[in-house]
Amino acid sequence: MCGIVGYVGTKNCAPILIDGLRRLEYRGYDSAGLAVYDGTRINVTRAIGKLRNLEAALAAAPLTGTTGIGHTRWATHGRVSEANAHPHVAGEIAVIHNGIIENHLALRARLVKDGAKILSDTDTEIIAHLIDAQCRKGLSLEDAVRAALKEVEGAYAIAVIRKSEPQKIVVAKNASPLVLGLGEGENLCGSDIPAVLPYTRRVIILEDGQMAVLTADAVRVTTVDGTPVDAQVKTIDWSPAMAEKSGYKHFMLKEIHEQPRAIEDTVRGRLDRENGDIVAEEIGLSPELATKIERVYLVACGTSSHAAMVGRYYLERLARIPTVVELASEFRSRDPVIGPGDLVVAISQSGETLDTLMAAKIAKEKGAKLLAIVNVMGSAIARASDAELYTRAGPEIGVASTKCFTAQMVALLMLAVYLGRRRGTLPAARAAELVEGIARLPQQMRDVLTGTRQLVLHLARRYMDARDVLFLGRGASFPIALEGALKLKEISYIHAEGYAAGEMKHGPIALIDANVPVVVLAPKDEHHDKSMSNLQEAKARGGRIIAIASEGDEDVHGLAEEVVEVPVVDPEFTPFLTVIPLQLFAYYVADLKGTDVDQPRNLAKTVTVE
Ligand code: F6R
Repeated sequence: MCGIVGYVGTKNCAPILIDGLRRLEYRGYDSAGLAVYDGTRINVTRAIGKLRNLEAALAAAPLTGTTGIGHTRWATHGRVSEANAHPHVAGEIAVIHNGIIENHLALRARLVKDGAKILSDTDTEIIAHLIDAQCRKGLSLEDAVRAALKEVEGAYAIAVIRKSEPQKIVVAKNASPLVLGLGEGENLCGSDIPAVLPYTRRVIILEDGQMAVLTADAVRVTTVDGTPVDAQVKTIDWSPAMAEKSGYKHFMLKEIHEQPRAIEDTVRGRLDRENGDIVAEEIGLSPELATKIERVYLVACGTSSHAAMVGRYYLERLARIPTVVELASEFRSRDPVIGPGDLVVAISQSGETLDTLMAAKIAKEKGAKLLAIVNVMGSAIARASDAELYTRAGPEIGVASTKCFTAQMVALLMLAVYLGRRRGTLPAARAAELVEGIARLPQQMRDVLTGTRQLVLHLARRYMDARDVLFLGRGASFPIALEGALKLKEISYIHAEGYAAGEMKHGPIALIDANVPVVVLAPKDEHHDKSMSNLQEAKARGGRIIAIASEGDEDVHGLAEEVVEVPVVDPEFTPFLTVIPLQLFAYYVADLKGTDVDQPRNLAKTVTVE
């Protein structure tokens, strides 16, 4: 996730672009850059690190001009470096981009063969060269962008300027957000409404497959194929603070709703749907190594360790590899018996959690192979690893992790499918089903978000004064029960515990009485009958049962006080759907109680202490 911004008008644009980038910094902040046309040429300034580094560079050597584009980067292709920072330049063209170009390797090879000098590791520079090549054939910037985009597969929001067509920005979008701001004698574009809000409240939200030409006096929208579009102009009445959260009250709620997009981005370019497989180069483990691994250790903390527990189900079932889940702090507090036959997977949103980092380093010292599943490119854990599989959820700002949890689960599922295919434990037909299932997941998650929101809000109102809440689950629903409890306790400060449903009668059942809501995860899977028995046991002790169940499960309706339904899906995908109502429940309870949802007491987003 990156942030892009553009301005064309009569004012000096660099301060406006910087201001826009500051409002988009929540989208990524590992490097930033501007390209400004000064009346003769396009000048580019880029700097790694926070925006203030770019500002310092501009203070030393200002860029002046009334047409320009700016970018704040969240690395996905290529490490954090000035060469990889945007804008990227090819010939007369400067481009900024948010998204992921899936066929960039093939395009890069062809461009290099044709003599292009590619200076960065990014997929974005490829777009610049494709557009430049079309301009050299005599096409206008607009037509060159159109022609170049025909060759590109993947997600993009781009803004492009050209030296010989000054006072013009061409933008286009597919699967990444892009907003146009309509001003008086000036027009703007940005990844999100906050970037344009100080200058205008009139916006056009571009749709996928659309592009636009912006000049100081006009904005013309067409499809990428060239058909004119009569775009709807909306007037925004959000405050700037609301705008940063896309109108949501808190980042956490926004991030819960971003999960379908986070999954789309995390799997983009990694699913080989033609062959029902996972693209090998994307996983970072060679097929040879995949067959040699004797055991997997999944090492993580907190929410990431719950994703690891779901990952264990995938790795054992699909790849038949003995898999151990370890809390990083405990792993490093022992003397674990690991060695060269082991694969250690360090899972972390921040990539900086000290316990996970130290556990990863111990594993490496003992000769294990180290794979990082992290969200922040170039983070300490990524740097310490032999291979990285990035979740591409974008920056997560709410302290309680949500979108990174589901992105980690899908990364682990892809890893398991990849290993299962290489090791011959996963039949081709089943792998193909899973790959198709992954592709369907974002829409199913959207359906759950819209389908359960109202009921969960009602449940939150009803149970917000509970002193204790229990969460029960079996199989892959056990980690989801743990995650539901963690979410609730960390932001609402209600005491909540997750238990393996089968463990109830070995002690925790004593906690249940008429004042204790018990959330039972009982989706239609191989454990359904047993989950129903556990549900009955809790009910018989007077517990108030809230079931998270599959649509149309009449048995559950007969037993539970409240039932939140999720669509019936292949059981491997159930955790992605059942966790959503639990995240929403925690959020609504906390919001109703008036806690500081995004920054709960005593917690930090990145834990760099032991
Ligand atoms: C809970 C939460 C934490 C983190 C944990 C690990 O909502 O966010 O439990 O999951 O601190 O952090 P990362 O994933 O950055 O290593």
